[in-house]
Amino acid sequence: MDGHRITAFRECEAALRNRDLKQALYDAGKVVMDEVLLTLHGEEHNARRTVEVRVFRRNFFNYYEKEVFPRTLAETIAPFVEAGGGDLLKLGYRLTVNLTSDFAGIDRPARTAEESEHLIAITKKLSEGATMVHSTRDHAELNAEVLAVLADFRESYFLPSLGRRRALLEERRADRITDADLPRDVLMTLVAGNDELNLGEEQLLREIAFYMQAGAHSTANSVVHALWEILEWARDDAARWARLEDPIFVQRCVHESLRLHPASPEAWRTATCPMHVPGAGEVAQRERIELDLFLANRDRSIFGETADLFDPDRELPATVLRSGLAFGIGLHTCLGRELDGGWLPSLAPIPRRRNWASWR
Ligand code: HEM
Repeated sequence: MDGHRITAFRECEAALRNRDLKQALYDAGKVVMDEVLLTLHGEEHNARRTVEVRVFRRNFFNYYEKEVFPRTLAETIAPFVEAGGGDLLKLGYRLTVNLTSDFAGIDRPARTAEESEHLIAITKKLSEGATMVHSTRDHAELNAEVLAVLADFRESYFLPSLGRRRALLEERRADRITDADLPRDVLMTLVAGNDELNLGEEQLLREIAFYMQAGAHSTANSVVHALWEILEWARDDAARWARLEDPIFVQRCVHESLRLHPASPEAWRTATCPMHVPGAGEVAQRERIELDLFLANRDRSIFGETADLFDPDRELPATVLRSGLAFGIGLHTCLGRELDGGWLPSLAPIPRRRNWASWR
C-alpha cells in the first residue's frame, strides 16, 4: 500500500464527509466508471446528483413498493416456485438485476428468465470492469472484454431504452401526454434534465452501465448475507421466528447484516490539497487514503464488545445508522440506500431482550 489507511468508524465517517478528498477507487476501472456520478467531484458531481435525485420525486417509494416491486418479484420468483426451489444467489441476482434495470431505465421487453440472465452476464462483467483495481487478471485483456460487453449492452438495451425515452419527452413537450405517462427512472430523468447537464451518448451509456452494476451486484450479495445471518440467528427458536413476522424488525436484521458485510468493504480517496486528516495525519496533495469500512463497521468503541456478531437488538449511539457505513456517507452517500434498505421507521425503539415475553 502506498498511502494511509483509516479503520476507526468516526475517522472514516469524517473522511467520507471531507470535501477536499476525492474519489480514487475507480481510476483503473475507467472503462465503466469514467465521469459517472460516483467518480465526479465538486461542482460537476453536485450538478449530476441534483438532476438524478429527481427520480425520487412524486411519491417514488410508494410507487416502487406498491407497483414495481410486487410485479417484478412475482415474475422473477415464478420459475423458482414452479421448479420447487432454487439457488438463492441466482434468485437474488435475477431479482436485483430486474429491479435495477427498472430503476436505471433499461427496458426489458421480453421480461423472461433468459433476458434476465443476459443482463446478469452483462452486469457481472461491468462490475469486473468497475472494480478492476482489485483484479489479478491482465488489465488490457479485461478491458477488452468489458468494452465488448458494453457494446452489447448499448445495442441490445441502452439505445432502444434511450430512443423510447427521447420520443416520450417530445410527446410530453408537445403536451400530448402528461408527467404521469413518463417512466420514473434514472435514464428518463437524465434525458429530461440534459439541457442542464449536456451529457453525450457515451457518457449517458456509462452512467446507466454504472447504475446497473452499482445496484445489482451489491444487492444480490447482500440478500444472501442477510438471509444467512437471519437463519443462523433464528435457528429453531420459535420466539425469534415470531419476531420475524414484523417487517420493521426484519429491516433491522437486514441493516445489521449490511453492517457486518458491507458490499463495498473499502473506499479510497485522494487529497486535493495538503491537509491534516484524523487517523491519517499529515497528507500531501494527491496522496491516497484508504478507508476500511469493513473494520470501521466493527469498531468496538461504537458497536460494543459484540461488534463482530449479528445482533439486531444492539444499542447504538443516536448518530450512527444500524447499517454503519455500508451505504457510505457524505458527498457520495448511496443513492439506492432507501431503495434497498427502506426508509427508517420513526417508531419507538424495539423492546430489549428482557422485555420479549411481554410483547410476544
Ligand atoms: C446493498 C446495497 C448497496 C450498498 C451496500 C451500496 C453501497 C454504496 C456505497 C458504499 C456508496 C459510496 C461509495 C463511496 O463513497 O466511495 C454507494 C454509492 C452509490 N450507490 Fe450504492 N449501494 C447499494 C445499492 C445501490 C442501489 C440499489 C443503487 C441504485 C440502483 C445504488 C446507487 C448508488 C449510486 C448512484 C451511488 C453514487 C452516489 C454519488 O456518488 O453521489 N446503490 N453505494
